[in-house]
Amino acid sequence: MKRRLIVSVALGVVMALAAMPAVATALPSMPSTKFGPSAGCGCHAALLTQWQESMHAKAIVDPIYLLKLKEGEEATGGALGPYCNGCHAPIAVMAGELTSLDQSGMSKVGKEGVTCDFCHQVNGTDGTLGNTSTAVTGDGIKLAQLQDPQAPHAAAYSQFHETAEFCGNCHNVDHPTNGMHLEATYTEWKNGPYAAEGIVCQDCHMTPGAGVTKPNPGKAAGMGPDREHIYTMTWAGGNVGLGDAALAEQRLKAAAELGLEVPEIVESGEVAVKATITNVGAGHYLPTGLTEVRQMWLEVVATDEAGNEVMSERRDFGSVLKDAEGNFPVELWDAVDFHSDDRIAPRESTSNDYSFPMAAGAVTVKATLYYRSCSEEMAEKAGVEIPTTTMAEVTKTVFPSAEAKAAGVEAEPGAEDGGETESGSGALLWIAIAAAVVTVAAAAVVLMRKKK
Ligand code: HEC
Ligand code: HEC
Ligand code: HEC
Ligand code: HEC
Repeated sequence: MKRRLIVSVALGVVMALAAMPAVATALPSMPSTKFGPSAGCGCHAALLTQWQESMHAKAIVDPIYLLKLKEGEEATGGALGPYCNGCHAPIAVMAGELTSLDQSGMSKVGKEGVTCDFCHQVNGTDGTLGNTSTAVTGDGIKLAQLQDPQAPHAAAYSQFHETAEFCGNCHNVDHPTNGMHLEATYTEWKNGPYAAEGIVCQDCHMTPGAGVTKPNPGKAAGMGPDREHIYTMTWAGGNVGLGDAALAEQRLKAAAELGLEVPEIVESGEVAVKATITNVGAGHYLPTGLTEVRQMWLEVVATDEAGNEVMSERRDFGSVLKDAEGNFPVELWDAVDFHSDDRIAPRESTSNDYSFPMAAGAVTVKATLYYRSCSEEMAEKAGVEIPTTTMAEVTKTVFPSAEAKAAGVEAEPGAEDGGETESGSGALLWIAIAAAVVTVAAAAVVLMRKKK
């Protein structure tokens, strides 16, 4: 009793020092017994395995999340708990099992984070979209896009599951007290070309490959009927370290196209180089989400024949947050605005010009685009391994003379065109094929509608 008093007095002092008032969750109150554990979804064995690999299943046990939550709770005197946990563990927060860092009171299903029976009891948006504006039924009837569910449990059709707003309830994160749009993946999509074309988040993140890989015929359940298209419960993004590594790597390699313009022959003087990144595969900004933590950068390195670097440049893409006094970078709970924002909108490009003095012999120019879910320092603090992924790479050579070029090309057969090698073009081919399939399918639908 006495100890509890001391603890609450101590807590009170901390709270009084903190600038931020405690933030409530937008979710309704509901006991966790209204939701079944994922183990009960065994009839959907393939979907269950996919979800287990996803970041949704790991959202409340993710060491990177728990590290940031701890820092946030310490900085604000425990004001953020229900706000942060609401998206990362919605059932536990609705049930009041989880208020801050202490996970000892959490039920088994609460610990499953963004789990099957939470998403399948969602039926709309409650109020302004974002910050867990999720409407939840809690009546046990499982909702999805299937018009004719043939299940041993209560199930019904939900148009809402086919919309980007379903995802936007959580994938738009506003500051809990000042409302700044910290993460706005949904809004980025909504303002971009994919929304206008009717391509939603599910079409890229709940299908088996990168790009829009529809249709994906299969069975939704082991004993269910064959269906022309089913969605996968994969949600691969860029998290190669903690999510499904193979799928995440595939998504990252399909996201950007990297172009490199290098003159073929420069006798002497400056060599002008241009590197262009185009966001060809992401339905939102590249990078998106918590871009103050994510890292994407372009390296352009020029190397002479002796192996000396004659130029090495790096540009980072992401966002930097600032506080009310203009200090930067700051943590998201202290942020009022972006100090800088260097992200690439969907289907848009950004170019970078470089130059270096020509060397006596040939110079090889290599442009590489890299991605990491977080810095090495943060990964180490959280005790996890987060690898760096090469999203795209191009190499070209500039020669001092036409003779040197001819000799160079001969020495390296297959290296015509200034010695270009490109990775990621295989993925682009698949996107092109997928796009063609979608176009044909859309045309077929239009024709069929017209016939009726
Ligand atoms: C993040 C929310 C979310 C989670 C978690 C989730 N689902 Fe889904 N699920 C959806 C959405 C959304 C659709 C429909 C997609 C569409 O129509 O665009 C769907 C579709 C389905 C379908 C219909 C058949 C199909 O595959 O298209 C089944 C069955 C299903 N999910 C089962 C599960 C199971 C089992 C789990 C857990 C192992 C799970 N879901 C986890 C959101 C979720
Ligand atoms: C209840 C809130 C919630 C809903 C609804 C939701 N998500 Fe998420 N999603 C999260 C959280 C939280 C994470 C991050 C988990 C982590 O990394 O710790 C996440 C992670 C992801 C990732 C992985 C990011 C990475 O780094 O690899 C993708 C992709 C994703 N969600 C897509 C979707 C799509 C598409 C939908 C709609 C069908 C959706 N989500 C619905 C909360 C949600
Ligand atoms: C045209 C396909 C496409 C659409 C549509 C799309 N995405 Fe993505 N998404 C990608 C690709 C490719 C990546 C990997 C590159 C990156 O990180 O941006 C990605 C990455 C992500 C990530 C991980 C970002 C990170 O770096 O941690 C999240 C979260 C996400 N998407 C959510 C969504 C949501 C929510 C929607 C709908 C509002 C959506 N996506 C629509 C293709 C798409
Ligand atoms: C409105 C929903 C929402 C709220 C509230 C929210 N998050 Fe998240 N969080 C997400 C989504 C969605 C992602 C995945 C986005 C992406 O991949 O870019 C994510 C990802 C993260 C990640 C990256 C995890 C990883 O493995 O890379 C961290 C760290 C994180 N959140 C911390 C926090 C903290 C701390 C708070 C509270 C201050 C918070 N989040 C509040 C939705 C939310």
